[in-house]
Amino acid sequence: MSEEIKDQQAPAPKKSKKKLGIIGGVVAAVIVVAGAGFWVWHETPGFCGAICHTPMDPYLATYEAEPGEASVDKWGNEVSDAKAMTASYHRVAGATCLDCHESNLSLQIAEGVSWITGSYEVKANEVYGVVAVERSLDELAEAVGKDGETICLNDACHNNADGAPMTRDDLAALTADEFGHRNPHVDQHGSTTCSDCHKAHRASVNQCSACHTDALIPDGWISSADSRKLETA
Ligand code: HEC
Ligand code: HEC
Ligand code: HEC
Repeated sequence: MSEEIKDQQAPAPKKSKKKLGIIGGVVAAVIVVAGAGFWVWHETPGFCGAICHTPMDPYLATYEAEPGEASVDKWGNEVSDAKAMTASYHRVAGATCLDCHESNLSLQIAEGVSWITGSYEVKANEVYGVVAVERSLDELAEAVGKDGETICLNDACHNNADGAPMTRDDLAALTADEFGHRNPHVDQHGSTTCSDCHKAHRASVNQCSACHTDALIPDGWISSADSRKLETA
């Protein structure tokens, strides 16, 4: 009798295991599809503004600013030509937020956690309420274990004709005619990094102007002295 029952019951667990397997498969498929959709959305600049709306508004606005037109920086100050904001003209060249703000899973989890817990550094701002504390290129790179200028000078972004990443010397040679003697890309007195001058979400600054009055200040750019005024305002 007990043998019979065993035989009759034996197939039952198999069936429910199969069912469970199917349900599990469907759930996994939904997660993969939803996750892929989320990932695609996550790659778009709109995501950064939609999810972290409060601190990200100024960043989305400066990114969407039109080169050649007057605009405002992340703090709400006038910029006579949006082209001076690196994020703006890189958008025109097809770059997304995440092309410059390289990321990885652990960084994104950390960012998500600090957004949920509200533990990110902000400064009070008249126009936007709050604005994130300014980062440097080195800090952006460090967060993903890279070397500062490789965020800009790499085979996918600023590269040479043969596809190899540009070096500082290549960049200096490329811009030699434009600048002549006072070429800001020549590290004349020690180390400068791209973001010392090329500001992503505010007017760029020719730092050489701190000491050299003949340093070129292109349209929309500002002098080192004006930059310091903005930073301390
Ligand atoms: C051309 C590259 C580039 C693009 C495109 C870009 N950023 Fe940035 N971003 C930077 C750099 C470089 C910094 C570091 C500060 C600086 O140099 O201006 C920065 C700084 C930031 C910061 C830190 C706070 C601060 O003021 O330094 C936030 C937040 C930010 N960006 C968000 C965004 C968002 C959101 C987008 C897209 C809507 C975006 N960025 C597009 C390069 C870029
Ligand atoms: C000391 C200031 C300074 C530093 C540091 C600097 N730049 Fe520049 N850069 C400038 C100025 C000024 C211009 C001219 C911008 C314009 O005409 O609108 C320029 C122009 C450029 C251009 C356009 C060149 C062209 O073809 O007209 C590129 C590309 C560039 N910089 C990349 C970089 C990269 C990448 C770094 C870091 C490795 C860097 N720059 C560091 C000041 C600087
Ligand atoms: C903190 C002040 C200071 C800054 C900032 C500065 N310089 Fe200079 N620079 C000097 C001084 C002082 C001299 C002259 C003495 C010497 O040759 O060291 C000089 C000399 C030079 C010279 C050779 C002599 C000349 O006057 O023609 C060049 C070229 C030069 N600088 C380029 C630059 C460039 C490019 C930058 C920006 C990346 C820059 N400097 C930033 C102070 C500065």
